[in-house]
Amino acid sequence: MNFELTEEQKLIKRTAKEFANNELAPGAVERDQTKQWPKEAVEKMADLGFMGMMVNPKWDGGGMDTISYAIAMEEVARADDSASVIMSVNNSLVCYLLQKYSSEFIKENYLKDLASGKKLGAFSLSEPQSGSDASNMLTIARKEENCYVLNGTKNWVTNGLNSDYVIVFAVTEQGIGHRGISCFIVDKKNKGFDVGKPEDKLGIRSSDTTELYFDNVKVPKENLIGKEGEGFKIALSTLDGGRIGIASQAIGIAQASLEKSVSYSKERVQFNKPISANQAIQNKLANMAIEIESARLLIYKAAWLKDMNQNFGVAASMAKVYASEVAMRASTECVQIHGGYGYIAETGVERLMRDAKITQIYEGTSEIQRLVIARDLLK
Ligand code: CAA
Repeated sequence: MNFELTEEQKLIKRTAKEFANNELAPGAVERDQTKQWPKEAVEKMADLGFMGMMVNPKWDGGGMDTISYAIAMEEVARADDSASVIMSVNNSLVCYLLQKYSSEFIKENYLKDLASGKKLGAFSLSEPQSGSDASNMLTIARKEENCYVLNGTKNWVTNGLNSDYVIVFAVTEQGIGHRGISCFIVDKKNKGFDVGKPEDKLGIRSSDTTELYFDNVKVPKENLIGKEGEGFKIALSTLDGGRIGIASQAIGIAQASLEKSVSYSKERVQFNKPISANQAIQNKLANMAIEIESARLLIYKAAWLKDMNQNFGVAASMAKVYASEVAMRASTECVQIHGGYGYIAETGVERLMRDAKITQIYEGTSEIQRLVIARDLLK
């Protein structure tokens, strides 16, 4: 067993950290307050090769491993969690899915532009009535001679507004449950496609989340991914990888919380000594450090299993559920250590707590991750 990062992984960490510190962190509080989408940051992430990190260079990706992706995600999330979810969706829900399941035609015409960051992708599974129970969807894809005609409403779509292409799951055969679901890539320019207004969210406020409406949207038959009826399994296996990304995002928030807590507690003087001299504060810092390191190891283990082509779904669920709970605890303690200063926007501390919450909800709630883990234990 080797806990040392490779030279390439160390380089990715340095590059991501430098970018995050110099270009993401400075405007993050303001972007959060004004809900400004980080256009320049996304362009820079594309230049750095961060938008299609795990895609084979043949398809204009970075050809990197999942551990490198987790490292870069953590650094980006440490500075700006909104930027990290934009990156995460494009990498692990869109590019990964296309590389693994799509045809040469789709790889040539869509994946290349998505992996190089020329275009941005979104992943659209949930609907107003189907969140955790993802197969209970109503969006229909009716087959015609040369195309499928999509009708329905999707929601909670990250990048719904700013993306170019959307991976969409829809029912091609009714009455047979998840076996009737298929997966498509849809160009948002298609007639009949519309985007709802961005949601007003608690956190990750400078990323966009929208509803999507399909009103007789004609999707060419070449845009079917995999075979008809394989959509649900494609969605779930893709989410297994997505959960490594969200866990890394969570740990970035937790790491930022720890770093801010260490530096503030050394500066803040009360009763003639820095508050870090108090054991009450030291215990909080030590607990954060223990939990962050444990979560990071769970993430690296899940990423390593994925890179070794072994089953990684349960490991990814463990990493996500634990890392997101660590993020919530660490960011809450960070606010506590900062006292009143932690409760106001300009210090950028309360934002961490608001951003952490979503990591317990999207790409499968903590309850769903525990269900996946328990089902495996009991099978
Ligand atoms: N990979 C591949 N196939 C899988 C799988 C996996 N990880 N897990 C299950 N399957 C297969 C099963 O083997 C089964 O196949 P058969 O019928 O042929 O045996 C089929 O899929 C259905 O499995 P289940 O009966 O277990 O399905 P279920 O309806 O009970 O649901 C679930 C399982 C784990 C609860 C699943 O629905 C789930 O993960 N729900 C959460 C959905 C989710 O994460 N949504 C996030 C939305 S994306 C997002 O957040 C977007 C964003 O923008 C950030």
